[in-house]
Amino acid sequence: MHSRVLHVVGLVAAVTAQALDKPTLYSDGLPMSDYADGLQQVSATFRAVGPPDKCVEEAMGNNACDEGDVEAREVTYGDCEQPWILCRCSNANMSMDDIMTKFSYVPPGIRSYVGGLIALQAPAASAYIAGNFIVFNSDCVIPVFIHESSHALDSGVSGSSEWKNAVNTSACVPDYYANSNLIEDFAQVSVVYTYLSKHNTAKADTTCLDPQLDVFRQSERLTLAQKTTTCLPDKRPFTLEASSRPAIGDSGSTTPATATPAISRSTAFGSASATIPAGSTSPGSASETSTDVTSTQTDIPGAGLQRTTAVWSWTVVTVSSLWVISLY
Ligand SMILES: *[C@@H]1O[C@H](CO)[C@@H](O)[C@H](O)[C@H]1NC(C)=O
Ligand SMILES: *[C@@H]1O[C@H](CO)[C@@H](O)[C@H](O)[C@H]1NC(C)=O
Repeated sequence: MHSRVLHVVGLVAAVTAQALDKPTLYSDGLPMSDYADGLQQVSATFRAVGPPDKCVEEAMGNNACDEGDVEAREVTYGDCEQPWILCRCSNANMSMDDIMTKFSYVPPGIRSYVGGLIALQAPAASAYIAGNFIVFNSDCVIPVFIHESSHALDSGVSGSSEWKNAVNTSACVPDYYANSNLIEDFAQVSVVYTYLSKHNTAKADTTCLDPQLDVFRQSERLTLAQKTTTCLPDKRPFTLEASSRPAIGDSGSTTPATATPAISRSTAFGSASATIPAGSTSPGSASETSTDVTSTQTDIPGAGLQRTTAVWSWTVVTVSSLWVISLY
């Protein structure tokens, strides 16, 4: 973790040079930590499995915990026949249930682009994705899960001339974090688009974002990822394999929480059957530090907690953007 942090700091100057410098729609960050409110939660069945090598490597590489303290859960969501293995260090701020629930709220078509994830302990919330594997530090809200997954969805769109033009012709970007660069902007717009799709409002007039939203609306691939009610097995970049290490944790199942009345949404889960293709991790690595500025009440979907308008915002930027851009 420490070497990574230094790495981030070293790149800040370079990243700043690419800042978009556009007006922002939300001056205090995306007001979307109530994302799950009114949405139906997908069911899940799960069991503890031996932590995959990848999770152990990430835990130890980040100096977050020892091999024996990595937990893994194989989760099969009601909208996807192919399970994911989700990991955490046993001291991570987010519980396994938190992680499983928050990831379930990433629309299945976007979730499909993510191979795996791990949650670690840290003083403040942050997250990054590298090689379609997400590392969450501390307690991240659902929009951060969507943001990171959207980096995997990106697959080069944010580096395209279409996206650059869309940004140039838009009167705004979502927030100051989106102003970091085209990659972060794409992921933030994806969060706004997802929120808008689910809630029919984005708590602001998004007209100034239209050229960017239109890229999503006009792309068959991005529209499918957003709208499908089942996962897209052929988009899964890889699946983690359970190891023979001891499995720590529970097995069980969750039934969908009842949607709170404000906005109800029917989620029809069909069945998808397909085999998961091997390999092919698309390029992409980005990282960010996020600070949940107001919310001490962590966002536990389905808990029906009253929240004040939690304003969360991402403060810092990015890693390896240069590397990412050159890959694109
Ligand atoms: C994460 O957990 C550590 C250890 O309990 C604690 O010091 C830290 O404040 C927690 N972070 C958050 C954001 O709750
Ligand atoms: C977008 O605008 C910036 C700054 O005005 C400019 O440098 C860049 O070339 C423009 N990009 C496109 C694709 O028009």
